[in-house]
Order: sequence, then structure tokens, then C-alpha cells
Amino acid sequence: MRRAIRFLRRNETVEARNFEPRTTLLDWLRLTERSTGTKEGCGEGDCGACTVVLRRLVDGRLVSNPVNACILLLGQVDGAEVLTVEDLAADGRLHPVQQAMVERHGSQCGFCTPGIVMSLLALYETGETPDRQGVTDALAGNLCRCTGYRPIVEAAFDALGRIEADPFAQRRLEVAEALAALRDEADVLVGDERSFFAAPASMEALARLYLDHPDATLVAGATDVGLWVTKALTDLPKIIWLGRVAGLDAVMEEEATLTLGATATLVRAREALGALDPDLDELMRRFGSQQVRASGTVGGNIANGSPIGDLAPALIALGATLHLRRGDASRRLPLEGFFLDYRKQDRQPGEFVTGVTVRKPAGRQVRAFKVTKRFDEDISAVMGAFCFDMADDGTVREARIAYGGMAGIPKRARAAEAVLTGAAIDDRAAAERAVAALDTDFAPLTDHRASAAYRRRVAGNLLMKALMEIATGDDAATRLIAHREVRHAAE
Ligand SMILES: Cc1cc2nc3c(=O)[nH]c(=O)nc-3n(C[C@H](O)[C@H](O)[C@H](O)COP(=O)(O)OP(=O)(O)OC[C@H]3O[C@@H](n4cnc5c(N)ncnc54)[C@H](O)[C@@H]3O)c2cc1C
Ligand code: FES
Ligand code: FES
Repeated sequence: MRRAIRFLRRNETVEARNFEPRTTLLDWLRLTERSTGTKEGCGEGDCGACTVVLRRLVDGRLVSNPVNACILLLGQVDGAEVLTVEDLAADGRLHPVQQAMVERHGSQCGFCTPGIVMSLLALYETGETPDRQGVTDALAGNLCRCTGYRPIVEAAFDALGRIEADPFAQRRLEVAEALAALRDEADVLVGDERSFFAAPASMEALARLYLDHPDATLVAGATDVGLWVTKALTDLPKIIWLGRVAGLDAVMEEEATLTLGATATLVRAREALGALDPDLDELMRRFGSQQVRASGTVGGNIANGSPIGDLAPALIALGATLHLRRGDASRRLPLEGFFLDYRKQDRQPGEFVTGVTVRKPAGRQVRAFKVTKRFDEDISAVMGAFCFDMADDGTVREARIAYGGMAGIPKRARAAEAVLTGAAIDDRAAAERAVAALDTDFAPLTDHRASAAYRRRVAGNLLMKALMEIATGDDAATRLIAHREVRHAAE
């Protein structure tokens, strides 16, 4: 058992043995290390002022990810290198992303600038040269209230265009070796029986520990739990972090199925789900921000039981099976069966999610639409996911329809499904009956995101849009950006 967390900071190994389990990385940086370059804005993962970069060894490769330090727990940096804005300039020379921000006037009051520089650093470190969309996606988690984004985006292009052997990049090998040396297979526990930050290294150790402490809080990416700390000021005396559990993040592709491990990040989920269908890729592109996707996990998005989580409706429509474990006992259930009532899931004390398996579409027609007030980094008002198995004669053999935002849980639209099963996909009357049947399926609420009437109307429109696209085999008339047309052209 290791009694400290260890991470790399400015070429030195830091060992932290005494810290409150819920300490955030931002507080440690600003209050303990006194590195105040990293700013605190919203404290809830939205503005990106606190962005830092974590470098980890993944399959032998050094991978840089931007994360929101305000909602990341200190213990979660175990095994990583932590880079902040103070670390970039060397020998009086700015890093290329900093230099480009200066030259393009990408900063005015400067409050957002450290976070923007760190997001650009993570992009720079990929070695890729993305298009404008790629750059704006990378910056979607960073708000700037004074400069405006044009100079910042221009700075990004300048920096990415001049990828050079900066002294910072030359340390990569050294960093990779230091991170490899930090690796071990020990379970970690900082604290005592009453209050601890624990990071078990195996599924067995996790199962045992959680059974012994069913009152502990499981933390995967902390993009939800972090807000309990910073916004609700919740005391979390016992924390079990899942990020060290070997194999829990596995992504397994088989001929007919895809299995996502509970701690697979949303970045990895985007790669895997995006390969199944372009709408799933688009859904994941709009999931939070790069910082949220780099930390947040599949298991966290399902286990939090949010009625407006984006993954659950999409996975339910695909026909997903959830995997759970408690002690030595494992069980599986259809994902829709996991959500019992508002924030109430079919999960026993000491039980945790180990993964989720979906059927690959394999010829089935998939559509997924997220409706939000703001295009980027916003939670859904309504999210609709559709999967239709079509017979050769154009009738619907099986319809799976699931919505988020329409009930206290992510839920299937069984009445609408029943109307469509056996109907011709272009049968307008059947489509209208299915839309009407949504009133049997759902009685949505009015809240600050949307009114009940708006939600009803949107849910019906999304279903109609999915049916029209599938019937015509085209989405040019239903979208501003016609994905399917592009995909068909590529095929
Ligand atoms: C700025 C911002 C934007 C966001 N945007 C979106 C969005 O667009 N769409 C969306 O759906 N969500 C969004 N979220 C919410 C959040 O990012 C997701 O729900 C994310 O998937 C949570 O994963 P996590 O690993 O961070 O969960 P955590 O915060 O670590 O955990 C969430 C909950 O799940 C439990 N838990 C975690 N893993 C397990 C497990 N394996 N077994 C049992 N219980 C477990 C935890 O105890 C906790 O109750 C956003 C959040 C922020 C801060
Ligand atoms: S302070 Fe706003 S995202 Fe962290
Ligand atoms: S420069 Fe002031 S917020 Fe961006």
C-alpha cells in the first residue's frame, strides 16, 4: 500500500501525504505551491481560466491533456506531470503559443490568457495542424470576455504553423522516463479509516474497498463531483478514485459489439462511438469541452443518473447493456433498466459500474440530436436518439427511441416505438401518430433550460426529422451541415 500520491512537477517528484481528500488541484497550486498564474473564474469547469495540462504515459506514448484544475481533485494527478502557465517559457524565451498570443494581441485584461495558453499548448503538443473547426473545438472550454476570439484563433494558427524544437518539447523523453519510473501497481491510500483519498490499482481491490466503505464517494473524472466540492461545499471524507484501476478504462471492439470500460474518458468514447456513426461523433464533439472530455468518463456520465446526460439516451437507442459489480458478484442489465426514478438508480451499496456494451449499428439507421441554448459546452434541454432496424421493403422492423430532458430519467419512448414498428418509414400519418404518442411517453417539466411545451415540440420535431432523413436517405434539407451527404460522398 502506498501512503502518498506522486506526481511530476518541474522535473521533481512531488509526494503528497497529508491533504484533505476533496482538495482541488487549483487550490493546491494557488494556496500550497503559490503558483498563482493559474486563475480561478467560475469554479465549475465552464470558463477554462484554470486550465492546466496533464501529461501521462498512455501505451508508452506521452499524451498531453488540458484539464480544469478547479474541479479536478489533487489526488487525481497521481502518476502525471502537471504543467502550468509558469512552466512554459525557458531561458527568457516564450513558448511558441505564448509568443503567438503576444504577436496577435490575443490578450487584454489577461485573466483568461493562462487558460487559453494551456489549451493551445495541449493542441500544440498533439503535433497536428487542425482546421478552423478543430481549433475552435479545442478552445470551446475557454471563455474570453475582452479580446474576442479572432486574434486568439489567429494566434493558434501561427503557433501550430511553426512547430519547432522548443526547449519545452525537447524534455519529452526525460519526462516520459520520469513518468515510467513513477509507475507501480500499488493501491494508494492517503489518510485513515475515517477520512481518505484512495486509489485502488485493481478491480478486486476496488470491489473490496468499496464493500468495506459503501459510504465512500466514487470519483472517476470529477467533472460532476468536483462541483459538489466547489459549489455545494459538500464534505467528502472518503473518496475512492477509479483512475488507477487497471483495465477499467478498456475499450473493446468485437464483431457485433463495442464495450466501453467505466473509466474510458469521453475523448476515447468519442473516438469509438464516432466511428460507429457521424451523429455520435457530433454528439460527443459537443459534449462539454475538451477539458471536460479529457477528464470525464463514460461510467460517471451513466452513474450520475442525470436526466439530461447525453450518453445514456444514445446508448439506450443503440441497445446497451450495463455491467455492474459488487464484491465478487457481477451482473448485467439493459441500460434503460438502470434508471429507476429521478436520481435513483438500480445500484446497491458497494456496487459500481464496470462498463457498458452496445450493439454496433450494422446497417441500422442511427440519429442523435442535442438541443441546447448555446451551441458549445452546454447541457441539453432535449436530447433525442433514434435507432431503426429497417426491413428491405422500407418498413421499420425495430424502433428504439430514447430521450434526455423529457422525464426525470433518460427514457425510452415506448408508445412512439410501438406506433412505428411495422409502419413504412415514409408513412407520414404513422409519423404524426408517433409524434402524438410522445405525449403518452412523456410529461416533461418546465425549468430554466426550457418550458414543458418547448420540450414537447422539440421532441416531436426531432423524431420527425430523423424519420424524414431516413426515408429520403439525405439530410441536406434538415441540417445546416449535411453530415450524411458528406458521408455518402466519401463512401
Ligand atoms: C463544464 C461542464 C460541461 C458538461 N457538459 C456535459 C454535456 O455536454 N453532456 C453531459 O451529459 N454531461 C456534461 N457534463 C457533466 C459531466 O461532465 C458528465 O456527466 C461526465 O460524464 C461525468 O463523468 P465523471 O467521470 O467526471 O464523473 P464523476 O464526477 O467522477 O462522477 C459522477 C457520479 O458518478 C459516480 N460514479 C463515477 N464512476 C462510477 C462508477 N464506475 N460506478 C458507480 N458510480 C460512479 C460518482 O460517484 C458520482 O456520483 C458537464 C460538466 C461540466 C463541468
Ligand atoms: S475556474 Fe472556470 S473552469 Fe475552472
Ligand atoms: S483577455 Fe480579458 S478575459 Fe480574455
